[in-house]
Amino acid sequence: MDYELKGRTALVTGASAGIGAGIARLLADQGVRVAATARRVERIAPHANLTALAGDVTAVADLERLAREATAALGPVDILVNCAGGSRPTTVDADEAFWEEAMALNFTSARRLSIALLPAMRQRRWGRIVNITGTMEPRGLNAAVAAKAALHLWAKGLACDVAADGVTVNSIQPGRINSEQILEKLHPTEESRRAFIERNIPAGHFGEPADVAHLVAFLASSAAGYITGTVIPVDGGMRNFAH
Ligand SMILES: NC(=O)c1ccc[n+]([C@@H]2O[C@H](COP(=O)([O-])OP(=O)(O)OC[C@H]3O[C@@H](n4cnc5c(N)ncnc54)[C@H](OP(=O)(O)O)[C@@H]3O)[C@@H](O)[C@H]2O)c1
Repeated sequence: MDYELKGRTALVTGASAGIGAGIARLLADQGVRVAATARRVERIAPHANLTALAGDVTAVADLERLAREATAALGPVDILVNCAGGSRPTTVDADEAFWEEAMALNFTSARRLSIALLPAMRQRRWGRIVNITGTMEPRGLNAAVAAKAALHLWAKGLACDVAADGVTVNSIQPGRINSEQILEKLHPTEESRRAFIERNIPAGHFGEPADVAHLVAFLASSAAGYITGTVIPVDGGMRNFAH
């Protein structure tokens, strides 16, 4: 499928594993010149259209540097995909440092990177920001869920403010997508995966990073210019948990 993105530039965070790696690869395959970022930069799969940049998105100095280095390597960034993140299940007595890290990773990093790249998008009157978020229906306390909820509403507000400048801002809620965190931490055994799928996923299986990546590519395309401020699940029908 051709999303007519050839010649565009993109910055994708969380590109060393799982969903972010799938998004970086699909965009690069589409002819987008991609700055792919993560801490474990050595795990970012090489590609002719891909520049790997190392950085920790919870560190403000790293975020500013990543925005600068991506722009220096590619020119102005057309498409920002905020994918770095991770689940943070917790208890009522978790300390402040735990919450601050969870918010920094799953909310503040996306907000700061968007702010750093927005002026160039607005100036050129074209831009795409896509956040990879998550469920709004927690099964227990999870600091990442609170952070992703903040990201949804921040993105909706921002979408209103920049729509007339040709910039769209959307969020995608993965249900259960095969990735490092899902396979190694959340559902480490085949038995636990099968039990979860039977109870919760009408499609009968976990999704693949490409299932999310294709929606990112569409939202990044010119055809999706009138779609903004949305929160879209990619979840095989696991809708009860993805509002
Ligand atoms: N997979 C799912 O079913 C699912 C469900 C709901 C939401 N999500 C969301 O989708 C996104 C991707 O999830 P995933 O399952 O693909 O996760 P994953 O396999 O664990 O990959 C996470 C990515 O984020 C990067 N990352 C984590 N902490 C970082 C930090 N401090 N600085 C820079 N990069 C960091 C990791 O790179 P390094 O470790 O190399 O830095 C890695 O590339 C996350 O935001 C997650 O919350 C996923």
